[in-house]
Amino acid sequence: MPAVVLIGAQWGDEGKGKTTDFLAEQSQVIARYQGGNNAGHTIVLGTEVYKLHLAPSGIFYPDKLCVIAGGVVLDPAVLLQELDDLRQRGVSIANLRISANAHIIMPYHRLLDELEENERGADKIGTTGRGIGPAYRDKISRSGIRMQDLLEPEALTAKIRSNLAEKNLLLTKIYGRPPLDPEAVSAEYREYGARLAPYVADTALLLNERLNRGERVLFEGAQGVMLDLDHGTYPFVTSSNPVAGGACTGAGVGPMCIDAVVGVIKAYTTRVGAGPFPTELADETGEQLRQRGGEYGATTGRARRCGWLDAVAARYAVRISGISSLTMMKLDVLSGIGPLKICVGYRTADGTVLKDFPLSARLLSQITPVYEEMRGWDEALDGIKEFDRLPAAARDYVRRAEDLIGARAALLSVGPEREQTIVRGGVFP
Ligand code: IMP
Repeated sequence: MPAVVLIGAQWGDEGKGKTTDFLAEQSQVIARYQGGNNAGHTIVLGTEVYKLHLAPSGIFYPDKLCVIAGGVVLDPAVLLQELDDLRQRGVSIANLRISANAHIIMPYHRLLDELEENERGADKIGTTGRGIGPAYRDKISRSGIRMQDLLEPEALTAKIRSNLAEKNLLLTKIYGRPPLDPEAVSAEYREYGARLAPYVADTALLLNERLNRGERVLFEGAQGVMLDLDHGTYPFVTSSNPVAGGACTGAGVGPMCIDAVVGVIKAYTTRVGAGPFPTELADETGEQLRQRGGEYGATTGRARRCGWLDAVAARYAVRISGISSLTMMKLDVLSGIGPLKICVGYRTADGTVLKDFPLSARLLSQITPVYEEMRGWDEALDGIKEFDRLPAAARDYVRRAEDLIGARAALLSVGPEREQTIVRGGVFP
């Protein structure tokens, strides 16, 4: 049962879309298992650029089963828009299946996300404003509305009325906003249910059947380990589990079926939103990385914070998720930026050098990164197809990063297109 989990090993935006698209070619099933339309995957196919927020990246292969599993929070309006766009551009969505258990993002989740962020003032998390946190909160508190509820109009209306009895109090009494009309919300979501009904299924059953048949399933993570609710830089995290283990709970498959965990990293580090970022560069080099790497969010368009590769954080991600191999993206962006630095430890206020990522948020906010300096290179890498053809300094950089992080890079990306990939092998067992 060859299942592979592909996850972000930094703070999201590592370039998972390209890696997934690449690995999807060699899989029969592609499934998303957590997060929602806070994610944004950019996929370049020839001259066409696609930005996906909810549909699994495998959607471009008409013969693959694409699953949005139960651990995802789903904004139906966003999904329907995305599916309409794909259809108009000639992409078939016939093989998409959505879990009946996926929780639905409601208008009050989006409103509360925005209102709560404003309320936080200087302590803002910098959420994507898509209602992700409030939707997961309702799931946890057992008042959430699921995909299957959208298919049962009367029960849906009752649940919306019950939810809005509480949310409208919050909206009106705490935030001074007008209340939402349960009948109007219900009518809107019944319509979404009717349109999505053909795709709704027991996706855990489908996935287990396919695994039992020996088909290769690729579980496509969103965000990254450092944004994980349990293991990331809390509270500056998302509200789901982007770690590899999230694939089991989110998709309904057992841990024994996972054969490999691929961690995607950039050759440097980026982060959007607030929270600790030890290797952040608030200087010209940071700006250079942002411009050369096109580091603007696919979902919100926000400028990403940029910095040096942080091997301490990446090694933590390898440990927490049992990453068996890496894919290193955007190596080409580093051409002409030198000398390069890799963070190999964190120095605390008392001079101690930490080699392991600290759990204490206070400690993390006080450390200074310890760097190892590496030679840079000036050559463009975008046409290189073999590892041995890379400039010696680029090879040294990759090998040193692998040693420090504790996993080998099976793929290296040297440009946005599918073909601009150096394949070293070793992703699939
Ligand atoms: P939320 O997921 O919208 O609640 O946002 C929580 C935090 O996760 C914020 O710092 C966001 O910027 C970050 N975040 C959420 N999704 C992504 C993503 O796909 N890439 C990078 N950061 C993300």
